[in-house]
Amino acid sequence: MKALVLSGGAGTRLRPITHTSAKQLVPVANKPVLFYGLESIAAAGITDVGMIVGDTAAEIEEAVGDGAKFGLEVTYIPQERPLGLAHAVLIARDFLGDDDFVMYLGDNFIVGGINDVVDAFRTTRPDAQILLTRVPDPRSFGVAELGPSGQVVGLEEKPEHPKSDLALVGVYLFTPAIHEAVRAIKPSWRGELEITHAIQHLIDARADVRSTVVRGYWKDTGNVRDMLEVNRTVLESMERRIDGEVDEASETVGRVVVEEGARITNSRIVGPVVIGAGTVVSDSYVGPFTSVAENCRITDSELEFSIVLRDSSIDGVGRIESSLIGRHVEVTPAPGVPSAHRLVLGDHSKVQIRS
Ligand code: DAU
Repeated sequence: MKALVLSGGAGTRLRPITHTSAKQLVPVANKPVLFYGLESIAAAGITDVGMIVGDTAAEIEEAVGDGAKFGLEVTYIPQERPLGLAHAVLIARDFLGDDDFVMYLGDNFIVGGINDVVDAFRTTRPDAQILLTRVPDPRSFGVAELGPSGQVVGLEEKPEHPKSDLALVGVYLFTPAIHEAVRAIKPSWRGELEITHAIQHLIDARADVRSTVVRGYWKDTGNVRDMLEVNRTVLESMERRIDGEVDEASETVGRVVVEEGARITNSRIVGPVVIGAGTVVSDSYVGPFTSVAENCRITDSELEFSIVLRDSSIDGVGRIESSLIGRHVEVTPAPGVPSAHRLVLGDHSKVQIRS
């Protein structure tokens, strides 16, 4: 069995911050979301991975390399434009050969991995297997309609009036039957060859298409609250590990990870928290569900339930909560008079000031 990982796309700037141009590299607990996908593919016993890349190919290739660090062998498959998920299958035909494969969307996060679903597919081997999850507003997903015995009877891509609350999760299992289907379909109204349509084509041809409902699913939609929540979920399952330096005047409580090269001085860290390599925390408090990435400076401040991306500094500003702070950001007190807030904010920024 092989894997086809989709890490292409147009590289449009992400909301709410431009932390990276490849949305598959958005960090969750200091690790790109794509890496969790690659790890769960390796954990499911798959080693041969085709990786679809587009505009952001260089960034993705730099992060993933040849895949060896995940125990994978990665073959890059350039896609000239994001012409759709089924188009990705079309151009991966030579790589996939006549093997079964799991297609994994690189910006999706499945809590608990994919072992169970891959095992079930290997045992029962239907023509296709999809994963579904219940979402409050399914209009920005593919949506499935199930029959009385749970079989998939219909799929619609981003419907205005969804027939259920069951959204398609970005992990699909296919036999080679999908190749004929991706060749048979036409581009949708948005100009893409939709995998949803290819699977509908299989259903119409009475192929065996099954579904599994999963919990614990996340995809980066630019919603900060969701991002903080998925960060919390991942931090909750981490083991305590102190590889960096913690001085005598500091205290680390519970599941705290201090990466090698990080330094904690005269501070209190209450887990779950991860402090990235090269980061210095001094005279500060870092509270539960916080990820601070590499090479940051947290000085004389309090931080809780937040994400700080790399190379940023927070100095002498009191307490920060429920916040997402981008790369190379500086947060400092405003010196002198007049007493005013001074802000330099990027596109789509959001600031809540307590004055
Ligand atoms: O995330 C789940 C959803 O993914 C499903 O519910 C939908 O049915 C499915 O169509 C898809 O919807 P999106 O419109 O959200 O997909 P998006 O364009 O964000 O692409 C998903 C991933 O695939 C992303 O990592 C970029 C990559 N991609 C996308 C396209 C269209 C490619 O590599 N090549 C492409 O041509």
